[in-house]
Amino acid sequence: MNILLLGSGGREHALAWKMKQSPLCKQLFIAPGNAGTLQVGENINMNVNDFATIENFCIERSVDMVVVGPEEPLVKGVYDHLKSSSGWRGIVVGPSAKAAQLEGSKAFSKHFMQQHNIPTAGYAEYDEYNYEEGKQYIASHTLPIVLKANGLAAGKGVVICNTHKEALNAFEEMIVNKQFGQASAKVVIEEFLQGIELSVFVLTDGVDYKIIGHAKDYKRIGEGDTGLNTGGMGCVSPVPFADEVFMKKVEELVIKPTIKGLHTDVLEYKGFVFIGLMNTNGEPYVIEYNCRMGDPETEVVLPRLKNDIVEMFVAMDQGGLKNIHIEFDERFVAAVMAVSGGYPGDYEKGKHIAIKIDQLKGDTMLFHAGTTQVGNNVLTNGGRVLAVTSYGKSMKEAVSNSMAAMESIQFEGMYYRKDIGYEFE
Ligand code: AMP
Ligand code: GLY
Repeated sequence: MNILLLGSGGREHALAWKMKQSPLCKQLFIAPGNAGTLQVGENINMNVNDFATIENFCIERSVDMVVVGPEEPLVKGVYDHLKSSSGWRGIVVGPSAKAAQLEGSKAFSKHFMQQHNIPTAGYAEYDEYNYEEGKQYIASHTLPIVLKANGLAAGKGVVICNTHKEALNAFEEMIVNKQFGQASAKVVIEEFLQGIELSVFVLTDGVDYKIIGHAKDYKRIGEGDTGLNTGGMGCVSPVPFADEVFMKKVEELVIKPTIKGLHTDVLEYKGFVFIGLMNTNGEPYVIEYNCRMGDPETEVVLPRLKNDIVEMFVAMDQGGLKNIHIEFDERFVAAVMAVSGGYPGDYEKGKHIAIKIDQLKGDTMLFHAGTTQVGNNVLTNGGRVLAVTSYGKSMKEAVSNSMAAMESIQFEGMYYRKDIGYEFE
C-alpha cells in the first residue's frame, strides 16, 4: 500500500516509524514531515489544510491510505473531503468533521458526555448573549474554576483560576476582547477536578474499538510540574495507577458509552480517540476528547504496541477490528522532550543539532518533532525539537536511559525536564 501521513511533529515521526515496519507499507509519504520522517519515507511539501492539493496528490501517486496526524485538518473536514472525492477512493484514518467536534468544540463534547452519561466535571456554557449571567455564575462558583474557550486555541484555551477576579478577567478576555477570535466566542465553565491525569488511546471504526495504550504526559515546562503549560515535555507508559481495576472502570464507564454514543448520534468515526482523563480518588472523569493521537504520548504508546498498525487500519476500515488481538511490549517506555530555549514563549529556530549517533544505545530512539533537514545539517524548526524515547525494565530505567541519551544531543539553548516520571519512584 502507498500511505500518506499528514503532519510534521514527533507524533508523526513515531507513526511513520511504526507504519514503515508493516509489510503492507510500500511507499510512505509524509506531508510536510520533518528531518526524522525523511529517514523512513518521502517528505512532501504540502499544507495539511490544503485538501484539494492532498486529493490530487493521492490520485497522482496512487495513495491507498491517508493517516491524519493533527486535529486541525480533521476539524476542517479532510475526512469528508477525501471520502467524497470523485477521483480517489481509499482509507482515511480519522473522524468526519462532525465527529471531530468532540475535540473542535468543548460545548459539543460536554453535551455528548452528558447525553451518554459519561463521567465528567459539571459545567455551564456562555457567550456574548448571556455574558452577564456568566459573570454571576463565576462569582458564585467554588474555586478553583476552569474556563475553556469553546473552539481550537492551539492548546492555550484553558485557564484554571484560583480567584474569582482572575476568572472574571479571563472570561472578559475571551468573550468581550475575543482573545481567541471565534474560538472564544463561547466559553465553557467547569468544575475543577482534583486528581492525577491519564491519556488513554483507542482505535475505533465507530462500532468496535481496541485500546492501544495509555500514557502520562508532563505538560508543564518546569520540574515538579511548575511553570507554563506546553504541548508536553515527556511521557511514560505504562502508568502504575492505571492498573486492571482502574482500566476496567475506564472501559465500562467511559470507552463503551463513548463508542456507543458515536453510533447513536451517527457520528462517522474511523480513527483514534484520545481520552484525557482525571483519576479522582480511583474514579475516571473525562477532561477532554481529542480526535487524534497525542504528542508526545504517541512516542511511548506506539513503541509498546506490538501489532502491525497498518493491518489494524485496514481492519478498522473493513469492520474487522474485533478480530485483532492487541499485544504490548512488557517493558516500560519513557519519552523526554528536548525543547528550544525560551519555549513555550518566544524561541529561535535554525540552531544546528549535533547528535552523536554512535553513543545512542539500542533501547533508545529519537523521534524528531521541530526539526528540518538543510543539506547535511539538521536544524531546529520548532519549540519541541526531539523526543528521546527509551525502553527499560522499570520506569526508572527507561527514564534514565533517555537521560543518558540526552548527553549525546546538543543544540544551542536546549532544555529538557530531568524529572519525568518523578511521582512514581
Ligand atoms: P484540555 O484542553 O481540556 O485538555 O485542558 C488542558 C489541561 O487543563 C488538562 O490537561 C488539565 O491539566 C487541565 N484541566 C482541564 N479541565 C480541567 C478540570 N475540569 N479540572 C482540572 N484540570 C483541568
Ligand atoms: N500531549 C497532549 C496532546 O497531544 O494534546
